[in-house]
Amino acid sequence: MRSTPRPGAVSSTVRRGLVAAAVLALGSTAAVATATSASAAVSCKVNYTASEWQGGMSANLTIQNLGDALSNWTLTFTFPNSSQKVSQGWSANWSQSGSNVTATALDWNKSLSTGGSTSIGFNGSWSGSNPAPTDFKINGVSCNGTPQSPSPSPSASPSKSPSPSPSASPSASPSASPSASPSASPSPSPSPSTSPPPPGTHVDNPYDGATGYVNPDWSASAKSEPGGSRVANISTAVWLDRIAAISSGSAGNNSMGLRDHLDEAVKQDAANGSAPLTIQVVIYDLPNRDCSALASNGELKIAQNGLARYKSEYIDVIAGIMADPKYSNLRIVTVIEPDSLPNLITNVNAFQACQEAQSSGAYVQGVQYALNKLHAISNVYTYVDAAHHAWLGWDSNFQPMVNLFYQVASGTTAGVKSIDGFIVNTANFSATVEPYFNINTTVNGQSVRQSKWVDWNWYVDEQSFAVGLRNALVAKGFPNTIGMLIDTSRNGWGGAARPTKASTSTDVNTFVNESRVDRRIHAGNWCNQSGAGMGERPKANPAAGLDAYVWIKPPGESDGSSTAINNDEGKGFDRMCDPTYTGNNLNGNNMSGALPNAPVSGHWFSAQFQQLMQNAYPPLS
Ligand code: BGC
Repeated sequence: MRSTPRPGAVSSTVRRGLVAAAVLALGSTAAVATATSASAAVSCKVNYTASEWQGGMSANLTIQNLGDALSNWTLTFTFPNSSQKVSQGWSANWSQSGSNVTATALDWNKSLSTGGSTSIGFNGSWSGSNPAPTDFKINGVSCNGTPQSPSPSPSASPSKSPSPSPSASPSASPSASPSASPSASPSPSPSPSTSPPPPGTHVDNPYDGATGYVNPDWSASAKSEPGGSRVANISTAVWLDRIAAISSGSAGNNSMGLRDHLDEAVKQDAANGSAPLTIQVVIYDLPNRDCSALASNGELKIAQNGLARYKSEYIDVIAGIMADPKYSNLRIVTVIEPDSLPNLITNVNAFQACQEAQSSGAYVQGVQYALNKLHAISNVYTYVDAAHHAWLGWDSNFQPMVNLFYQVASGTTAGVKSIDGFIVNTANFSATVEPYFNINTTVNGQSVRQSKWVDWNWYVDEQSFAVGLRNALVAKGFPNTIGMLIDTSRNGWGGAARPTKASTSTDVNTFVNESRVDRRIHAGNWCNQSGAGMGERPKANPAAGLDAYVWIKPPGESDGSSTAINNDEGKGFDRMCDPTYTGNNLNGNNMSGALPNAPVSGHWFSAQFQQLMQNAYPPLS
């Protein structure tokens, strides 16, 4: 993992074109139903929401079956304006003739039980105006959302006029600008809890008042390093990065299986007085994993029955263990599938493995399956990965990502409640806060957004991004209780190269380059970054809207090998981990900034660990 930044999929020219464009949602429309085919009474509702920008749009449609079970479906509708075009769709086969659009079901979503729903969507273009279509039909029958009563007659004439969707998704849609963000007020401000709620209760913030699990495997690696005992008792996450990692004695750094960790967590909890204990487990084995990079490719492939294996050999087994009553007093935080859903937003066009992840529905269904199983266990908490600011912080990526998160959550049994929160910066290096400038800073009349480093992003650091994203998610329909996490394990950027004050330069590029504490060559660099340091230590309630700073990437574990290394884990060699690589369009054709002599991802990298300690910020005492 830790694939790209991928402002990526969007060229910088295009991004510039979007600067002033507001992202807005069209009202949702619902439509109809009534008529039968020979055997099934069709009754349906279609909810349509679209984000649009000048000339472009990204639309999501949720088809709800209110009638008899369907074994297959075809959705049709007409664009009101002849300029409106579907350019690329997902979760259905899309075609368009004139203004008439047809979406036919894929194998995995063709059967729709009574009351069942499925979400599909497309990106498209328009000029002039971009009104929402209203005449949705399933299998030729108009959808108006009226619940089906006894078999209607085939001649029942479908209503043409859509009724506005009663609930659907709220249409308030933020611009990605932090200053223009909706004002969903963040969840209760930091308040250390006084008396902890009864053990096992599902609380709003699982980090509040809790101590963190110390992973003995990682701790032993840290202690084996000179000076490592200074950090060896910090809580880091357990990565279940392959099926074998669930059981004891798997390869790599990790000798303990999931049960070993949970048993040990129970012991640490008992030794710890009355404070509850939070253990973090990374769920990381989707088929076609790390689809836009090579360093963390995994064992499962979509084309080789990977999704079914993911469900039965991975998620079911994990959920079965976590549900064991002997673990019910622990707070088990799961970090769900780093990079996966963000890859569906930005990397489908350029990467075949991502294209397949999207068209097959495997990422969406895999994440939904994980959420269903994990959320059902009351002491398990789910945090879905939301990449980082230098991946999603542009208009073109931000709102489509919010929409996809909403769509994914809406398709789970518990809906938006199946997600406790989102995590940003997992295994990445973006600074938590840039202390010497923010997105509103101007230099000689020029916004820092115009600098090469910021490159028109709406965010300059992870905390502002996390809060902006949270606001947008709440505006979209997530509960105000969702909380954000930031992985701060390697984003400290201390040491001699850290600026100590804002630059006095009047040139915007020089100003930003001299002021930024993130010392990477380019914000798109993600592999074993030279010069990085350990960041803020884990901490609950560090700011409004944030549940915690956490250490998810265990410092000292490599992001990927700097040369090709044979291995039996499915890991590839990504040139972004090669210090001699001169880059590609995703990192502005810059050097990769990676450390030399790195082992395969997940394996211990002593030199990196030493540098991370040396450049820790706050410094280690
Ligand atoms: C690797 C995993 C590893 C994790 C934590 C990922 O980049 O692919 O194998 O468990 O990092 O170090």
